[in-house]
Amino acid sequence: MSGELSPIDKAKYTAAKQAAALVEDGMRVGLGTGSTAAWLVRHLGERVRDEGLRIKGVPTSTRTAELARDVGIEVITLDEAKTLNLTIDGADEFDGNLNLIKGGGGALLHEKIVAAASEEVVVIADAAKQVGTLGAYPLPIEVIPFGWTTTQMLVEELLVSADVMGRKITLRQNGDTPFRTDEGNHILDLHLVRIGNARQLAMALNQMPGVVENGLFIDLCDKVIIGYGDGRVETRDINEGTVSEDRISFADSDNLFSDL
Ligand code: 5RP
Repeated sequence: MSGELSPIDKAKYTAAKQAAALVEDGMRVGLGTGSTAAWLVRHLGERVRDEGLRIKGVPTSTRTAELARDVGIEVITLDEAKTLNLTIDGADEFDGNLNLIKGGGGALLHEKIVAAASEEVVVIADAAKQVGTLGAYPLPIEVIPFGWTTTQMLVEELLVSADVMGRKITLRQNGDTPFRTDEGNHILDLHLVRIGNARQLAMALNQMPGVVENGLFIDLCDKVIIGYGDGRVETRDINEGTVSEDRISFADSDNLFSDL
């Protein structure tokens, strides 16, 4: 059955399975958003069902909350959890310092709040997400709908003096209408090509009125788990400065594939 998955999906499956093994009984776990994080939620659901793993999950989006409930994970709010033992999430890009661009799925605000509430943050990704310098993937910023065109103008002005290569900004769409986040806000995608100083840009963007949050995750990620289509998996720990390798097998009996 696993043979029907594309190499990229196998890579996401692999990274997610390795990360799911980090979750221990009794943990409060932040559950990310996106296709890689969805694999994580399915793997955790399988552990809940097969091993009786008891965890409380704090989802970063309504989509993730729905999937988590479907697979039998107990869902609580961040206000109930207050702090989290571990968050596992995907990313659109990560660099050598494990700084990230996130928000491709539009959940960056909840994802950043949940990451900041966590003792440990683990990113799961396929190797294509790794970059030397952040910025090829458009940087999402969440803006409130009131006066969003004025906010866009202010961001355009900010970018003139920022260390970036591109300056195009687009309003994210959902079909014919502007995309709305779970908070009812819009997303502006900043096509920057290359971000010379991500830390400085993240701080400057968050000082603009109308900008709620930006998709640069600086110093938030502790580990990245990179999955490959052949089952290899690499874990980089930024705090320990270690890199380790492992291999995940695609068991034909794996229930997750039959759910697809
Ligand atoms: C959602 C995100 C996702 O983690 C990011 O877009 C990666 O998604 P995928 O795993 O589908 O590639 O930040 O807001």
